[in-house]
Amino acid sequence: MSQAVHTIQLAGTDQSFPCAENDTLLRAALRNGIAFPYECNVGSCGNCKFELLEGVMASCWPEAPGLSDKDRARNRGLGCQSRPTGPLQIKLRTSDKYAPQFPPVRTPAKLIASRVITHDLSEFTFQTDAPMPFLSGQYALIQMDGIAGPRAYSMSNVGLFSGESQGGNLIEVQVRRVPGGQGSAHLFDHLKPGDRVEIDGPYGMAYLRENIERDILCIAGGSGLAPMVSIARGTFSSPRMAGRKLSFFYGARAIQDVCGLDMLTTLPQWQERGTYQAVVSGANEEEHLPEGYLRGFVHDAVAQTYGDRLQQMEIYFAGPAMMGQSLLKTLIDLKVPMDQVHFDQFY
Ligand SMILES: Cc1cc2nc3c(=O)[nH]c(=O)nc-3n(C[C@H](O)[C@H](O)[C@H](O)COP(=O)(O)OP(=O)(O)OC[C@H]3O[C@@H](n4cnc5c(N)ncnc54)[C@H](O)[C@@H]3O)c2cc1C
Ligand code: FES
Repeated sequence: MSQAVHTIQLAGTDQSFPCAENDTLLRAALRNGIAFPYECNVGSCGNCKFELLEGVMASCWPEAPGLSDKDRARNRGLGCQSRPTGPLQIKLRTSDKYAPQFPPVRTPAKLIASRVITHDLSEFTFQTDAPMPFLSGQYALIQMDGIAGPRAYSMSNVGLFSGESQGGNLIEVQVRRVPGGQGSAHLFDHLKPGDRVEIDGPYGMAYLRENIERDILCIAGGSGLAPMVSIARGTFSSPRMAGRKLSFFYGARAIQDVCGLDMLTTLPQWQERGTYQAVVSGANEEEHLPEGYLRGFVHDAVAQTYGDRLQQMEIYFAGPAMMGQSLLKTLIDLKVPMDQVHFDQFY
């Protein structure tokens, strides 16, 4: 059934965009090339806040943690959770860095394959009905039947390169089973090949910068494997990046969680240009680690390995918010310019 579409006016500007009643303000703005600031897209980070000046809207998730009671009292909303029920005027400060290279598309998709990576991490491959162009490192939203709200999952397959615009129809994601989590449980326990979902993407700013000459450091923690594998795959297949070296750090809690190396060693020239380092934080002193593994937290391992040399690297990371915060602090302490650091925190 077609949905009513309303005009969203950005106060104090000549910018406006159409938004269907079953879309959110953030996603509709990005579909129309408007640089609406955001990060998680799932109601958690609060980066997509705006102020409602005129009109009536509804929230997909009124209790979303990204909005405080004070925000609600001030008529603020989350762009990623707000749906229009009529024309709106909103106050929003856009920022060019959020302008999408590829406007997000919503498309039905079907699961075509899945495979186990570790005891709690699996890969799921979807075929989308419409092509979904994306850049290596970006993520998509997957809406599953019976689950409230979409879940954000990063693509692990390689995205498009600069100058390309023809997107493919395959989306590969790597998902960690979260104890008690509804979306991940649905993927692991209920979704079968042939089952359909809705995919909306691409989103995210932590995409591969092909034009930067610096060597690359990828740091993945836990379920943050997928976007870092995508960045590595992009680096080793981009003709513009030939010769660029890439170091890949994977931070795991336990030995059995370590993964990713088999996806990297098959890349062309990995032996000459790539290195992989596993770091295990939860192993006790008596536990024997496989040869080459480091003990401790991944942010400490990165600092000890590279120190000041981090200032000359292009750094990508993905994983749990706690890892992200520790890593950011380490990079700031080591005076790494923040425009060389690209990340998505997994809420
Ligand atoms: C940018 C980004 C990229 C990510 N990439 C990956 C990845 O590659 N691999 C991976 O394993 N995980 C990834 N995650 C985490 C993933 O999106 C889920 O949070 C995780 O799988 C847990 O989901 P769950 O449904 O199992 O847990 P739950 O606890 O059931 O759900 C948690 C998630 O659902 C949202 N949510 C909960 N209730 C509602 C509601 N009523 N309405 C709307 N939303 C709701 C929350 O914001 C939260 O994101 C990513 C997260 C983000 C933000
Ligand atoms: S982008 Fe909306 S709360 Fe994170």
